[in-house]
Amino acid sequence: MSTKETLEFLTESVQKWQKIELASVTMARKSKEKTDNPLLLIVLEILERDSEYHHRLQQVLLEALENGTLPLKPEDVGLLSDLIDMHHKVEKDVIEIGRSCRGALGDQGGFVLPKFILDYLINDEEKHDALLDGLAKVKSGMYPYGG
Ligand SMILES: [Fe+2]
Ligand SMILES: [Fe+2]
Repeated sequence: MSTKETLEFLTESVQKWQKIELASVTMARKSKEKTDNPLLLIVLEILERDSEYHHRLQQVLLEALENGTLPLKPEDVGLLSDLIDMHHKVEKDVIEIGRSCRGALGDQGGFVLPKFILDYLINDEEKHDALLDGLAKVKSGMYPYGG
């Protein structure tokens, strides 16, 4: 594929993806009205919010594809650096707590729901950690000499 064809393919695919995200938001909202179970409610809320985040992130992706990159003001770069430094430490700490809780429950039967919740949370915190790692790489790619 030529660069132009690649960009067209990406744009169309991501726009299709965004429509599915919006449909997921609506589906999750409607389902929430049908239950008062706290576990189901939080799962539906996670699906609703994640779909919203995905849609927004896909919008940034589309703009980055169209414009090459998104402009970052110097104060944005400063904030980004702080974010990476401060939150990285926090994510590492909470991952450690999560893993020690999960470890305490072992791999025997029982505690099925607590294990599931802990595994989910650990995975989420690892995702935050990876997000910051990835952002640090993007930043050093955009600003190879620091800043
Ligand atoms: Fe999604
Ligand atoms: Fe986190």
